[in-house]
Amino acid sequence: MSSEATLLTNPSPRPTGFPRLPGDRPAKVVVVGAGGMGSWWAREIVASDVAELVGVADLVEGAPQKVIEQSGAEDPSAIAVGTDGVDLALELGADLLVDPTVPVAHHPVTVKALHAGIPVLGEKPVTETLPEAISLMAHSELTGVPFMVSQSRRFFRQVRQLRDFVAEHGPTVMTSAFFSLFTEMEGYRRTQAHPLLRDMGIHAFDTARYMLGTDPVAVTAVGARPEWSVYSHDATVSATFEMSDGSLFAYHGTWNARGLATYWNSEWRIGARTGSATWDGKGAPVLGTEDAEETAELQARIDAETAPEKDQIAASLVECVSALREGRTPMCEVHENLLSFAMVEAAVAAVETGARVEIDALLEQARDDAIAAETDPAAREIMQGWPSVREAIRARA
Ligand SMILES: NC(=O)c1ccc[n+]([C@@H]2O[C@H](COP(=O)([O-])OP(=O)(O)OC[C@H]3O[C@@H](n4cnc5c(N)ncnc54)[C@H](O)[C@@H]3O)[C@@H](O)[C@H]2O)c1
Repeated sequence: MSSEATLLTNPSPRPTGFPRLPGDRPAKVVVVGAGGMGSWWAREIVASDVAELVGVADLVEGAPQKVIEQSGAEDPSAIAVGTDGVDLALELGADLLVDPTVPVAHHPVTVKALHAGIPVLGEKPVTETLPEAISLMAHSELTGVPFMVSQSRRFFRQVRQLRDFVAEHGPTVMTSAFFSLFTEMEGYRRTQAHPLLRDMGIHAFDTARYMLGTDPVAVTAVGARPEWSVYSHDATVSATFEMSDGSLFAYHGTWNARGLATYWNSEWRIGARTGSATWDGKGAPVLGTEDAEETAELQARIDAETAPEKDQIAASLVECVSALREGRTPMCEVHENLLSFAMVEAAVAAVETGARVEIDALLEQARDDAIAAETDPAAREIMQGWPSVREAIRARA
């Protein structure tokens, strides 16, 4: 089996109605946002069989050229540069805009691209605020143009293996993800409110939803900011989510503790009805049931899966292009992604208020705010027409 055939794909795809991308040529891609992630995306696109890098845009002069230089492209001069990603994509007839700009730029860049008819593969988090994310759901419905959020951590073999284990041994009752890695990152994260939840929590929350097959209902959370932290806001947080099947998911994360770092994926323990699993975030998951023979068989199956396969953003790119070629919704389409981001914003609200925050109440408040802020009457009407945000997600995801 080819490595691409083993990739995770949307477990419940729907036809999009959007014109299919031809399968006999690579997708023409423009990257907007030539920073750290833009560099990584450019390298992956250049190395990919399914995509071709045709342009790079950034507001900062000279930034696109630097990204192109390190991309590994055979002929860097053949890749166009610009300041506006959507204008550049239109000029070049691009099939896809990959958007690793800073989170505050995700909403304006995506709205412009969707209305220009250009599908978007955006970096996480979907936007800076929940009302903006809800607005993007509406703009994607309005234009019919696909919008996928790249949640790179979903695309690990181990995450798929744990999802399969939970499907066979669940439901779960208690799951924890512990993330501890000392970092003093420069840039927007230094002053961002709740940077750990917004930058890192989103990965674990999305992974939990995917692995456990459940959605969030409510959360309680507390944050801490030790005096040695370089971040203006709390980069240490503990949050406990009540999930839709009655199980609990606890997240403990910090950028402030030195020593014994976890991997970027967090350390996991999953406790389910007929089995438990642990994962250090890098190696093979360790599985356990009360039957020694079954445990040995399950573990042997996992240990035998060693064939190389694409993961992280390389796999995310394949999923996006495959979905565009097949005319189906990609995994992590904006509707499906929204509840992962709602977990972040609900945890933020819980830290700020000290209260238990119900996800549905937060979503409805955010919809009101999104309607009030929306400048496009048609998008406003779409949001007003949803029975609830949860229903709008269910209808599409
Ligand atoms: N998946 C992952 O593992 C992962 C890791 C790191 C960052 N990210 C995400 O990637 C995104 C970017 O993070 P980063 O660390 O690369 O940030 P960065 O600050 O290094 O780069 C962002 C770039 O976007 C540019 N930009 C901002 N607004 C723009 C606009 N309107 N048009 C064009 N360019 C614009 C900035 O000039 C900057 O060069 C964030 O959403 C972040 O959460 C994901």
